[in-house]
Amino acid sequence: MCGICASIGSGNQVQNVLRGLKDLEYRGYDSSGIAYLDKGEISLCRSVGQICNLEKKIDEKVCAKVLIGHTRWATHGRVCEENSHPHLSFKKTLAMVHNGIIENFETLKSEMKDVEFRSQTDTEVFANLIERQSGKNVEKLISASKIAKGSFAVAVIFKDEEKIYCAKRKSPLYVAYRKGQVMTASDISAFENKFEYFYILEDDEFAVLSEDEALFFDCNGEKIEKEKKNFEKVEFFDVFPDEKCFMRKEIAEEPIVLKRTFFKYFSEKLISEAVFQELRKYKSFHFIACGTAYHSGLLGAEFLQFFAKKSCSASVASEFRYGFQTIKKDCVYVFVSQSGETADTIACADLVKKKGGKVLCVTNVPYSSLNSLADFILPTFAGKEVAVASTKAYVAQVFTLLTFAGKIAGIDMEDELRKFVLNCKITQFDRSLFKEIYKFKKIFFVGRGQDYVTSLEGALKLKEIAYINCIGIPAGELKHGTLALVDEETLVVVTSTRGDLKEKIENNIQEIRARGGKILLLSQLDHNIDVEYKIKLEENLEWLMPIESIFYLQQLALEFCLEKGLDPDKPRNLAKSVTVE
Ligand code: F6R
Repeated sequence: MCGICASIGSGNQVQNVLRGLKDLEYRGYDSSGIAYLDKGEISLCRSVGQICNLEKKIDEKVCAKVLIGHTRWATHGRVCEENSHPHLSFKKTLAMVHNGIIENFETLKSEMKDVEFRSQTDTEVFANLIERQSGKNVEKLISASKIAKGSFAVAVIFKDEEKIYCAKRKSPLYVAYRKGQVMTASDISAFENKFEYFYILEDDEFAVLSEDEALFFDCNGEKIEKEKKNFEKVEFFDVFPDEKCFMRKEIAEEPIVLKRTFFKYFSEKLISEAVFQELRKYKSFHFIACGTAYHSGLLGAEFLQFFAKKSCSASVASEFRYGFQTIKKDCVYVFVSQSGETADTIACADLVKKKGGKVLCVTNVPYSSLNSLADFILPTFAGKEVAVASTKAYVAQVFTLLTFAGKIAGIDMEDELRKFVLNCKITQFDRSLFKEIYKFKKIFFVGRGQDYVTSLEGALKLKEIAYINCIGIPAGELKHGTLALVDEETLVVVTSTRGDLKEKIENNIQEIRARGGKILLLSQLDHNIDVEYKIKLEENLEWLMPIESIFYLQQLALEFCLEKGLDPDKPRNLAKSVTVE
């Protein structure tokens, strides 16, 4: 979490950095701040809350050619101005912005008896660690980085030099160049398209930025040459520019995302048959991811199991990481991640790779840290997702994994998938139905097989943006405990799209209704059973129904959120990119 953006150029960099920070706000919005060189001293301006608060606070007379900025998702220290970045070192010789966690900061802090700390952050300790080193500024940064443990992407300014210094370990950092301006940021989306090219910093690499050049160094202080990356290769698209609510916009983009994914995998044949041929040789596939991406992984496992008859399983990354796993040579480990920067997912991919396992990454961000570990990459084409709650990225992952399963199985799905993407549309959630169900304070989501996964995802969306305490569980598990909670004030959202399980789910509905629970049924099937509320799904290939059903559950969560007057794009306590453990 946290976003870094720093810029050095021939003109005033305030607006450039503020614009970049706004593009990174999805990474955290507890507080933000800037630091800049001002007549040989370092000045700070910081503010709690969203970037717009910082923007109002910055004096319009500020003119700085060297400027570092930060948007924070709090890890160490509560949300307040003192804990906001940038942080000044004790003697005020340098200021720094940081994304990551310095794991040994307590030990380091206890060794700095002469320093009066102004915040509770690990970053301030890192800033002081740099200040205590000797040599040139770049040497100070390199020495401090050798002592610091954990993850960091940092941008530092020293009061005695008009330059920006960068260091990176395990947190992403990019540098972009154009004549007269060099910028660094946590994500390339912070760079406007006027930049000529960009560089990706690798772990334990350092950069020194000046107005017209970016120099790179390894951890021995030796100068290194880095590959220039082209912006043309990075595809973003923005289809509903006037929509103010990103989550609504991103749900509306889902049909376009599906068309684009279909086009890439079928018309453009993005992945060659030789790659599928190679992957077919593996006996099993194990999916690893977090949150919503884990739900797509669960579906990916179901798809591959059904179509390709592969042995499949899935783990939440934070569990896999510390579990007692055996890495098998005949297994492909599939990592699903929108950002490609999720700390637990990256740690698992790293672990699998070190133990000789095969790594397949399904990611939405081309130059992500996760992709750098991949043996195989399946890109998703959701475009930039800004709202913290993942919607179109999930749909892109599910569709990509279904396509993948078909390809591995050697089944020709092209015509059916084309028909689906061409006809696919988002039907608005019925407002009058919503008014009926809004009164429920206790909500469960149930389903079987793929509909169970949809239930998990529907519940997660409602929890994270509308703060409603709800769960998703397998319909068959209800009677093993959870049914005790069902009463007249309970709404159970039942997703039923598997024809072969129609009667089973009808039995579950009976069990719920016998306890007074009310049902909202999402189905394309002809259920012969009384329920309070119904949403009729379109008839589609059964394996496409998880996409069809989630359109509604995403909108349901959005309606609850808006009705409660909450901001769907920036839910409390969360950030888009979870780059800490
Ligand atoms: C929920 C959500 C999160 C992410 C999770 C993994 O709406 O967005 O649960 O899915 O943090 O993030 P990525 O996919 O970037 O690895």
